[in-house]
Amino acid sequence: MNAEPFHRLAARMAYIEPFEVMEIQTLARQLEAQGKKVIHMEIGEPDFTTPRPIVDAAIRALNEKPMFYTSALGIMPLREAIAGYYESKYGVKVAPQSIIVTAGSSAALLLAMGVLLNAGDEVLMADPGYPCNRHFVRTLEAVPRTIAVGPASAYQLTHGHVEKHWGPRTVATLVASPSNPTGTLVTPGVLKAIHAATIARGGTLIVDEIYQGLTYGVAPSTALAFGGDLFVINSFSKYFQMTGWRLGWLVVPPAYVREVETLAQNLFISASAPAQYAALAAFKPETIAILEERRAEFKARRDFLIPALKEIGFGVPVVPGGAFYIYADCSKLASDSFELSRRILTEAHVAITPGKDFGANEPEKHVRIAYTNSIDTLREAVGRIGRLF
Ligand SMILES: Cc1ncc(COP(=O)(O)O)c(C=O)c1O
Repeated sequence: MNAEPFHRLAARMAYIEPFEVMEIQTLARQLEAQGKKVIHMEIGEPDFTTPRPIVDAAIRALNEKPMFYTSALGIMPLREAIAGYYESKYGVKVAPQSIIVTAGSSAALLLAMGVLLNAGDEVLMADPGYPCNRHFVRTLEAVPRTIAVGPASAYQLTHGHVEKHWGPRTVATLVASPSNPTGTLVTPGVLKAIHAATIARGGTLIVDEIYQGLTYGVAPSTALAFGGDLFVINSFSKYFQMTGWRLGWLVVPPAYVREVETLAQNLFISASAPAQYAALAAFKPETIAILEERRAEFKARRDFLIPALKEIGFGVPVVPGGAFYIYADCSKLASDSFELSRRILTEAHVAITPGKDFGANEPEKHVRIAYTNSIDTLREAVGRIGRLF
């Protein structure tokens, strides 16, 4: 008899990496079990709870409606509400029929890549970047062509990168703006040039706008302003503060709706029905008023934290215009960001994310710090870190 447990793995699993931050979180939990008060700045979700009007809409719907599967494309009133939001906030007309409601933007990313990529195809994307993007591509046996970016391009791709790195197997460019982990944005002008360079090569542009709405001092925009020949990913997770509800959406060129619907039916059947009814309240003025107050709070936190981190010795070469992250250069404080994160956690009881989770472009020099805490807590955190150095 074979003593080894049965454990056959697909080759693709060799490319799917766990999050390093999980190790930090495990260590944080151990410290908390010992009674230490850990400040969490490693987590990629807002600390604000879902706005009350959204929760109330969910409760009403649960009481009044049967919660069956919905259409794989999502309930039409929500698709119409999203279209209405594009028009009222961004002045962009999007047909509700081109909007597909998904289980978070994660499902939207998988659907977009699922209809676009063949095995061996390449997708251009920035490094540092959101790690799941390269893993979605790998899951489909395609190849993430990661491009090292730095402060010179605000940690974003440019049309020059597209021109230089486009190869015979490249089929798409993926841009996230605002970005995770850097919080930086692509300007509409640069994005337009990336779009043109991608289209000129017969490729498809995918824009991840999941942090849309969370921008500070920068006018919010959407890539849909350039026309309908691109894929746009969005979510209720971040600006709308609904991470656990698992709801997002995808906007596709009309010719792709049927294929995305077919794939969505097969992979997910539908997004969560209660979450969809709840999200109908997300665009109501009373909800937006709450979200805008919270956006102002995020801006105040960012404005507090950047100079405080610089004073300790972190570098912040580009002021992040959005999301809730600071991608800080820690090379003046330590030679290895993972060891630094571990030290800051064990000695100062502040959890941050080492750069390694976001790619291979100088990860040892960077950490991601999320400002998903009140200013008082941030003050306490930088005080604790500052005393270490
Ligand atoms: C850039 C980016 N894209 C997509 C996601 C996925 O989010 P969700 O599936 O909750 O919409 C995240 C989550 O942190 C992200 O940072």
